[in-house]
Amino acid sequence: MPPTTGTLDALLVEQRVFRPAPATVIEANIKPHDLAEAYALAGADHLAFWEKAALELEWRRKWDAVLDASNPPLYRWFPGAQGNIAHNALDRHVHAWTKNKLALIWEGEAGDCRKFTYFELYREVNRLAGALRGLGVGRGDRVCLYMPPIPETVVAMLAAAKIGAPHVFVFAGYSAKALRERVNDSRAKVVITADGFYRGGRMIDLKAVVDEALPGVRPEAAESVVVVRRTGHDIDMQEPRDLYYHDLLRQESPEAPTEVMEADEPLFWLHTSGSTGKPKAVVHGHAGYMVGAHHTFRTVFDVKPTDIHFCTADPGWITGHTYGVYGPLLTGATVILYEGHPLYPQADRLPSIIERYGATIFYATPTLIRMLMRYGPQYPKKRDLSTLRLLGSVGEPLGPEAWMWLYKHFGGSKCPLLDTWWQTETGMAMIAPMPISVLKPGSVGKALPGIEAEVVDQAGAPVEPGQGGYLVIKKPWPAMCLGLEGDPAGYRAAYWERIPGMYFAGDVARRDEDGYFWIQGRADEVLNIAGHRVGTAEVEAALTAHRFVAEAAVIGLPDKIKGEVAKAFVVPDPGWIAAFPDADAFDAELRAHVRRELGPIVVMRSVELRDTLPKTTSGKILRRQLRKEELGEVG
Ligand code: PRX
Repeated sequence: MPPTTGTLDALLVEQRVFRPAPATVIEANIKPHDLAEAYALAGADHLAFWEKAALELEWRRKWDAVLDASNPPLYRWFPGAQGNIAHNALDRHVHAWTKNKLALIWEGEAGDCRKFTYFELYREVNRLAGALRGLGVGRGDRVCLYMPPIPETVVAMLAAAKIGAPHVFVFAGYSAKALRERVNDSRAKVVITADGFYRGGRMIDLKAVVDEALPGVRPEAAESVVVVRRTGHDIDMQEPRDLYYHDLLRQESPEAPTEVMEADEPLFWLHTSGSTGKPKAVVHGHAGYMVGAHHTFRTVFDVKPTDIHFCTADPGWITGHTYGVYGPLLTGATVILYEGHPLYPQADRLPSIIERYGATIFYATPTLIRMLMRYGPQYPKKRDLSTLRLLGSVGEPLGPEAWMWLYKHFGGSKCPLLDTWWQTETGMAMIAPMPISVLKPGSVGKALPGIEAEVVDQAGAPVEPGQGGYLVIKKPWPAMCLGLEGDPAGYRAAYWERIPGMYFAGDVARRDEDGYFWIQGRADEVLNIAGHRVGTAEVEAALTAHRFVAEAAVIGLPDKIKGEVAKAFVVPDPGWIAAFPDADAFDAELRAHVRRELGPIVVMRSVELRDTLPKTTSGKILRRQLRKEELGEVG
């Protein structure tokens, strides 16, 4: 696929296009005529299109209607349907040819490897399902997962789904405080964790964080803590609360019934940051999410029985949920899960994993790609990456330069690179190329069939091609979240009332003459640090919780590797002068404080001490002005 036009690198003038190789088109699940048909069907009958997608899965009872739109924006897909995502992701494979196929290949950071066939995974999930039931967890009870990327994490997600208990994943990099808040928030009966894990050559003592987090949670939460022994190091097991996973499972049967769920019963909660306040729990249900994850993985990632899919995202993020676990298992694919740091012990670790297991799809984030770029092409060059046939990116703008680097040095200039745009709330990829698409480096392609995306102005009117505006979705889609837990008004206000009747994604984008979308970044006060959403309000709240901080304002600064990092402006309480030897020590303390409060996800470039912060007449902090002072931005 040689470039057919131009060589300029800047996003706004990017003109290169890459056409699919003939073999890619011949072998694709969705060929050009299928795609044209899909767009035609979705255009003519949106619901018939998604009903067709739902019919590819097994149901205990089919739906009474495809969509219940009687109470917008609380759209409910497939009302009346009954089933369970775990049935489709796991149980049904045991009665199919996929039974003895590899479901999961796991590699530990030290190089240890464990593999599970679908049958083995099924038996392990059933044992944990039985154990959770034994601990009194039933349908509707939440199970909190504070887990590293290990096989038991996938087992735990599926076991919770199987018994109808929504999982609430807390990424293992979050602080004890964040974990405590989420356990409290969800009133999770059980917390599943590990003693520790390995990352960057270090052992991370995860259980110690749990022990710090749990005292003080509400009495009905975290009655039991199930601990997977990963590192085997000495940990404090508090009786009768703490139980070893392996001890529990030893007694359990490898068979367990799968709860028959109603379509809109919750499958999981996942917290994410918005413009205001604390992170909110986005809730996804069994039916619509399953249809969206399955359909997009099959069509966008074009998955085949021979595929080995390597998703670098941690299972604790939405990418890990949808395209690291559920999507691949729903389609009977094999996934690779890697425990450790992507550059450990050196920068060829990911290429080496691709080579050793023969990965065919590599789905990564722009931050990771930029990190690999910094180390140079000699690392992927050292390895045989010829098994790869598709590349993917998600989470932040990739940009033409990183696009070209990945395309060339991982894909050998022959693998389609799919830059997929979506969100925790959308549950599934919404705007993305397919392997047969003509690709433009830096663009996320067109809206998928069945997705009505548009770039509009503040009043909701479409803007001219090439003009910037707000990214909106104009029709409901199956994997859309059910809402924000306990906050229907907040859900309406943040997503559906900014521009009435449309889903407001919170991104600024433009669409070119060919209908290709180019994502420019967030439109709201949410930073995207290495693909992780961080609300400025959250960081400000963490800072002002410090006893020597009177006021704080946080803005994002561009960063070569992480895309964006935070900068804080702090009005200190005068007491700091007596408490710290100098401003550097105070700065270090504030950074450590943010890390303690929120975890290492919030990367701070600097903390600047100020006497005052610019404010509107009504007292709101003018972050815009701070940004302007810092970056020379206009407007
Ligand atoms: O700003 C967009 C950015 O990530 C946000 C969603 O973040 P989150 O819910 O954490 O989900 C990330 C993984 C699905 C979006 O509002 N984003 C996501 N994908 C892209 C992107 N920005 C540019 N290009 C993408 N492909």
